[in-house]
Amino acid sequence: MPLPPPPPRGASAPLGVFDSGVGGLTVLKELRRALPHESFVYLGDTARVPYGPKPPEMVRGFATEIAHALLGRGVKGIVIACNTASAAALPELADRLPVPTWGVVEPGVAAALGRAPGGRIGVLGTQGTVASRVYQDRLERAGAITWARACPLFVPIVEEGVSDTAIARLVASHYLEGRPPLDAVILGCTHYPALKGVLAEVLGEGVTLIDSAEAVAAVVARDLRRLGLLAPAGGRAGVRYLVTGDVPSFLHAAEVLGGPAGTYEQLPVTDLSLGPAERAR
Ligand code: DGL
Repeated sequence: MPLPPPPPRGASAPLGVFDSGVGGLTVLKELRRALPHESFVYLGDTARVPYGPKPPEMVRGFATEIAHALLGRGVKGIVIACNTASAAALPELADRLPVPTWGVVEPGVAAALGRAPGGRIGVLGTQGTVASRVYQDRLERAGAITWARACPLFVPIVEEGVSDTAIARLVASHYLEGRPPLDAVILGCTHYPALKGVLAEVLGEGVTLIDSAEAVAAVVARDLRRLGLLAPAGGRAGVRYLVTGDVPSFLHAAEVLGGPAGTYEQLPVTDLSLGPAERAR
């Protein structure tokens, strides 16, 4: 498949956002709040979710394919609204793409360090994110004491739209068993904000939950302003959703997460595949 032609990337062009599934909608929601005039193309790679247990080089390949698909749709910037893909593909992707590219890890680390005065910070994430130590290394370099746990069952629970149920509570108790005293817990997967209620209940009072979505949106808004790429007021601020898997299932989970209305299209995952030579470019 040839690389897409260079897109028009003026301020009126949409922003691309992607995740393995519905998790990135938690970031999209904050982006829309911070950037009310922007239009978005959201790609949910539900045909290949979950990314968490997959090898990082495979996730990097998926992220590269998706970035090219978004560039082909004329985006002016790309938000990797997925911790697993941010851990596996940033900064390489940011270096190689012709548009500004943001991940979700750095803003989450900054938010946690600002809100955990005792410096005891828990990290919940996918297997890929936790194994990469992308959070632990940054936090420990800043003097924090960390405790991390991979929570693979959380993603299907959120994708199934059963985040606020006894199933979720039971699984959360299982993953949080044996934790040391903590001041803050980073929701190191963009699916997890859907579990905030359940996690707050299990963690109890005195533990601050860090959801990086707001911090990510603030960084993207700041950079777009600096680059002169903020969409002009009065534009069409809609969302175009591209879903590689089943659209009705995505819609169901998106509704549970309060995803905004928009147009939904099925994008066959085979349309995303790049040859090895194109991947390397
Ligand atoms: N929402 C993603 C993340 O932030 C991916 C979860 C998955 O696909 O395993 O890591």
